[in-house]
Amino acid sequence: MLARATGLARTLMNFLPAASLSSPGGSAAVSAGSVFEARGLTKVYGVGVAQVHALRGIDLELYEGEFVTLLGPSGSGKSTLLNILGGLDVPTSGSVHFREHDLTASDDASLTRYRREHVGFVFQFYNLMPSLTARENVELVTDIAVNPMPADEALGLVGLTERADHFPSQMSGGEQQRVAIARAIAKRPDVLLCDEPTGALDVHTGILVLEAIHRVNRELGTMTVVITHNAVIAGMADRVITLSDGRIASVRRNERKVAASELQW
Ligand SMILES: Nc1ncnc2c1ncn2[C@@H]1O[C@H](COP(=O)(O)OP(=O)(O)OP(=O)(O)O)[C@@H](O)[C@H]1O
Ligand SMILES: [Mg+2]
Repeated sequence: MLARATGLARTLMNFLPAASLSSPGGSAAVSAGSVFEARGLTKVYGVGVAQVHALRGIDLELYEGEFVTLLGPSGSGKSTLLNILGGLDVPTSGSVHFREHDLTASDDASLTRYRREHVGFVFQFYNLMPSLTARENVELVTDIAVNPMPADEALGLVGLTERADHFPSQMSGGEQQRVAIARAIAKRPDVLLCDEPTGALDVHTGILVLEAIHRVNRELGTMTVVITHNAVIAGMADRVITLSDGRIASVRRNERKVAASELQW
């Protein structure tokens, strides 16, 4: 009975954020199975001679539960695209839908709610609070989330049960990054967006971090995008999207996915 009541509460809570985002009647929602649908996305930074065309017309669909890597040279627009999907930035033109919600028609307050309730971010640098333990860093999020998992469960998912009471200064870079992943997923986000999560780590540590991200994707079904400069990491993905000069240069599906532990670079 309690489980059913909890399930009902979750269903209602899941509905509430949806109602708080803009969803104008009649606007095109994403196709069945799509989490994101981007059409004709452009992003221009600056004005006049200082203009930079970061995105030059991106059409993209990302699907429920998939693990996608985003490759491409420096400056090709990877972070810009990820930031727009995550509601941290807005395109100059084009549209992005997250499920039935038109992010491009959302005001700042709706985008803030969207990020808080639906998106987990992991960046190259971990941005942990140095004066808080691993558990307390995760609790910063679980204290305000709608339907969080316990902080210890999130730390367990990334293999850090033993480190819950440690401060960031007492942990390795890879352990700190896994705390950052635990913090990102503790609110049970619908999507996990990672911008070069292993960029600051050595190979061995990077693999532990990728294993943690992959486990979240597999066990929670969280649609995951990982930006990387390392083409080897693309072997883990369901699909590999490569950007070049603000455009999608290729989309490839991996017939056989490689486990993080098998990666070598
Ligand atoms: N806030 C900004 N103001 C002006 N130009 C920007 C801004 N953010 C990004 N750019 C420019 O947009 C282009 C795409 O940048 P972006 O950060 O998306 O590239 P990236 O593929 O993530 O590169 P990297 O691999 O180096 O992180 C670059 O030319 C960059 O200089
Ligand atoms: Mg970048």
